[in-house]
Amino acid sequence: MAKAIADAEYVKEIEKARRDLRALISSRNCAPLMLRLAWHDAGTYDVKTRTGGPNGSIRNARELNHAANKGLETAVLFCEDVKAKHPKVSYADLYQLAGVVAVEITGGPTIDFVPGRKDSLESPAEGRLPDAKQGASHLREIFYRMGLSDRDIVALSGGHTLGKAHRDRSDFEGQWTKDPFKFDNSYFVELLKGESKDLLKLPTDKALVEDPMFRKYVELYAKDEDAFFKDYATSHKKLSELGFILKNHRSILATGVIGFGIALTAVILGYLHELNKRTN
Ligand code: HEM
Repeated sequence: MAKAIADAEYVKEIEKARRDLRALISSRNCAPLMLRLAWHDAGTYDVKTRTGGPNGSIRNARELNHAANKGLETAVLFCEDVKAKHPKVSYADLYQLAGVVAVEITGGPTIDFVPGRKDSLESPAEGRLPDAKQGASHLREIFYRMGLSDRDIVALSGGHTLGKAHRDRSDFEGQWTKDPFKFDNSYFVELLKGESKDLLKLPTDKALVEDPMFRKYVELYAKDEDAFFKDYATSHKKLSELGFILKNHRSILATGVIGFGIALTAVILGYLHELNKRTN
């Protein structure tokens, strides 16, 4: 993984794939679906066993057929076009890059993207993604398992500013905001308005206004879009790097320690050489 970060050729491919994803997402008008794909690949992470996470395993038929992933086969298929043009780019990177591009292309914040995720063919057992029919304690159970916080839960739920629910994919129907192709803070504004006959609120969305810890973030994001964008970008990056950044940090740290060791040895040798010259 660390190698991919330092590999200039790979980074170049990532930038080309990013451009192709922009074109694909705007021509197919599929930003919401792509964001959902990135989230569902990453959201299976278990911090204790370090299994699941953004590793491209959602492309496996077994995982794609999980009830929570209904409708995502189209997103996986769309990504194949980009994969065919940039075969070096891992599926794991491709899906997370698609999520980042989906947010940016619809007017959302810029999200820092670090490439180098490895692909896995191991799919976790069904049931790791949240169940929309449940409430606050279920949300905490699921997101804490990933290693995420209350703040992350609320910020990331803001992803529902995009897209809609389809009766044939989930048991729900309708969109959360008036413009489902614009990434803004209207999800939170609408949440605070309460029940609406035109807009959707899942039980898990309602939990965000009912739970006092969650509610304080909903109120903040509804009145301050900059605060939402800042937190969203941070939480999205965290989600997209679950189980990934730790390894990189370790290798970056190891490289740093070795580099420092070499530099120190050179200084000591230089000093001894100088000392030797003077005593002779
Ligand atoms: C907090 C727990 C969450 C629950 C229970 C949940 C549940 C759902 C459900 C039931 C749908 C409808 C699927 C369909 O019928 O097509 C949906 C759609 C969607 N979700 Fe979530 N979600 C959650 C969190 C997130 C997060 C964290 C993100 C992204 C950061 C996200 C992004 C989306 C998007 C963009 C759609 C629309 C997809 C489309 O239009 O095709 N969701 N979600």
